[in-house]
Amino acid sequence: MTEIPYETIVDRLAGERVMLIGGAGFIGHNLALRLREAGVETMAVDNLMVNSLIDNVFVAGQDGARRQLYQNFLLDRFTLMRDAGVELRNADARNMADLARSFDEFQPTKAVHLSAIASAVEARKDPGLCFDLQLITLRNVVELCRLGHDRVDQVMFMSLSTVYGDFEGDSVDETVRPRPRGIYANAKYMGERLLRTYCQQHGLGITIVRPSALYGERCISRRVSQIFIENALMGKPLLLEGGGDGRLDFTYIDDLVDGQIRALAMHGGAGTSETFNITFGSARTIAELASVVKNVVPDAALEERPRARDKPIRGTLSTERAEEALGFKAKWTLDGGYRRYCEWYADQWERARRVAESN
Ligand SMILES: NC(=O)c1ccc[n+]([C@@H]2O[C@H](COP(=O)([O-])OP(=O)(O)OC[C@H]3O[C@@H](n4cnc5c(N)ncnc54)[C@H](O)[C@@H]3O)[C@@H](O)[C@H]2O)c1
Repeated sequence: MTEIPYETIVDRLAGERVMLIGGAGFIGHNLALRLREAGVETMAVDNLMVNSLIDNVFVAGQDGARRQLYQNFLLDRFTLMRDAGVELRNADARNMADLARSFDEFQPTKAVHLSAIASAVEARKDPGLCFDLQLITLRNVVELCRLGHDRVDQVMFMSLSTVYGDFEGDSVDETVRPRPRGIYANAKYMGERLLRTYCQQHGLGITIVRPSALYGERCISRRVSQIFIENALMGKPLLLEGGGDGRLDFTYIDDLVDGQIRALAMHGGAGTSETFNITFGSARTIAELASVVKNVVPDAALEERPRARDKPIRGTLSTERAEEALGFKAKWTLDGGYRRYCEWYADQWERARRVAESN
């Protein structure tokens, strides 16, 4: 592995202006904070449409403490971004005029595309919207770069591990041909192909990032890592499909952001195309995830369920390429990172519960 100190990496970002499309979401706001820490001018463009205030705070019938919790997470995101000096624009990236206004005003040198319905289950319920939020927005970003914003020498696209389809063998690396299933993963693969076409035909610099099973502070996407700790705190069982033998390459948000920063800083510029798996680099079972929760909430109940039929078989994503090219190495094991997240979640839950009870 190539050892490249983080400080050296960060120095390379001096003078860059990074625009995050879908930047108020879970990954986006965490990346924005880290970019600001490195002194990089950062603008988040977001229409606050998915996993945001309306979805989580306005809804009726939701448990009061949970609504309070998600409201706190969202308001904390805004407070942290404002205090760190991130610029935020409320714009819909499906609308070319809206997005062009933000590009003209900010004059980015790099763009990170994050907007999506970031859930296979939700995307399946509304495939047209899934397509639009991932691909119409991406089309607008690359067209703006082609039609005048040629200072943008890199577009980073957040793809995902399920582009590989069912994993075969111990792990997958970036040379494995994707065989995505379902609208969410297929739209990601279409996005990858669209970017590669703009790279080949118009010289756009691109980076495709394939993360997996992320968890971390202020996430409200309700993936298994969040549902488990939340159920444990609410006295609900943790459901183990097929006994919990499914394996995922669980990755802490800090590690993903470290990889993104490295890939932004070390990119080769216009005409360069790169694809990286950025994950922990070793899969763990859902049962192991549950056992970390039980260490934090010993009363948590486990319940076995039949295996879901249409879930892709996943596992380890090899991070060798990112290690070689970027000096990336994930630091947070499940036992360290997920435990830290569960303890943080328990504190946040207590804070929200007290407020909800006093209302
Ligand atoms: N979180 C994960 O585990 C994970 C794993 C692999 C890939 N990804 C990908 O990373 C990206 C970010 O994921 P996330 O977890 O931060 O999701 P998120 O839902 O928290 O954030 C997505 C953001 O995009 C915004 N958005 C949606 N449509 C928009 C539009 N038309 N204009 C402007 N903003 C819009 C949403 O309001 C939201 O804030 C997504 O593309 C997702 O598919 C996430």
